[in-house]
Amino acid sequence: MIVLGIESSCDETACALVNEKREILGQALLSQEEHHAFGGVVPEIAARAHLEHIDDIISHALKNANISLNDVDAVAAASGPGLIGGVVVGVMAAKALALALNKPFIAVNHLEGHALCARLSNDVQYPYLLLLVSGGHCQILVVKDVGEYERLGTTIDDAAGEAFDKVAKMLGLGYPGGPLLEKAALSGNANRFTLPRPLINSGDCNLSFSGLKTAVRKIIESYSEDGDIAHADLELQDINDICASFQYAATDCLVRKLKKAIDIVKQKYPNAKHLVVSGGVAANTYLRNALKKLADESGFIFAAPPIKYCTDNGVMIAWAGLERFQKGYTSPLDFKPRPRWPLDEFAPKAAGAGGVKA
Ligand code: KG4
Ligand code: ZN
Repeated sequence: MIVLGIESSCDETACALVNEKREILGQALLSQEEHHAFGGVVPEIAARAHLEHIDDIISHALKNANISLNDVDAVAAASGPGLIGGVVVGVMAAKALALALNKPFIAVNHLEGHALCARLSNDVQYPYLLLLVSGGHCQILVVKDVGEYERLGTTIDDAAGEAFDKVAKMLGLGYPGGPLLEKAALSGNANRFTLPRPLINSGDCNLSFSGLKTAVRKIIESYSEDGDIAHADLELQDINDICASFQYAATDCLVRKLKKAIDIVKQKYPNAKHLVVSGGVAANTYLRNALKKLADESGFIFAAPPIKYCTDNGVMIAWAGLERFQKGYTSPLDFKPRPRWPLDEFAPKAAGAGGVKA
């Protein structure tokens, strides 16, 4: 069984082919660099770039896999949530292929792509505890099965990746900020600046990063004579120390809320064995190490996709498509792409539309 998956919901145009033996047969990925000058993704530029490159990316992935389109059993596409212009490009390409090949189309929730990706390279069984941390989302979930999620907590403001990006931007590190901030933090002192732990005593598993970001802004402002962060007189060591202190605080918030989640999971899902992290921020080695330590201390097994499959890619969409296909969850060709699509919104078996009622 071979599934082709397409990802185009943000600034990566990607395609991959996977099979039920958990083999990645081939893939291609283009990270759009057009956005770097703007310090963030520009939706219209992204949509146009997806349109320009999608055919080539699909051809490259097929060539890389050394198979023909006729060998493909189903075609999946990230069908939301995301920037709708880009999502439409990927969904239309997938539907056209499915129609021409007379094979099923599978609408994959981009978040489900992140959520299930760790199962491709690790022996992770359902149910498992998941921290999903990307540029647009930050959630603590129990993954009960394909399409079956219980959300234990979510950010009430910024996503974790968004906070990394914004702090990096304030420090003039560039975009995307997460990896650049991580690199700077390697040479920094995480204890130099004391930062808050927003929402830490809320008694639930919800998170907040906005206050943390504001606290960093105030520190940067204190280095500027006129209070404008653009004029802050920061030495390289100051920047590295701010990055390390922020990364430490953000990770600490995630770890402390996950501790709470682990207590809930132990009660409610005694079969759960794994603590999984996924999404772009899961590429952060400092966070991975902290979560591994937490899992070890809590009697859980830590798992995460390989670093290169944490940020958006075609493999995760092809894999989630394959898991859906194995369950018989295919989608109609009139499936409407969804700019918003909460992971836990619909029951998986609903209406056969990739878990979505039309
Ligand atoms: O999953 P993803 O590629 O796109 C979304 O679905 O949002 O996540 C992108 C986010 C960005 O905010 C990026 O800065 C962050 O993941 N990220 C990182 C690292 N690599 C990517 N954040 C912290 N440390 C990293 N090494
Ligand atoms: Zn993503």
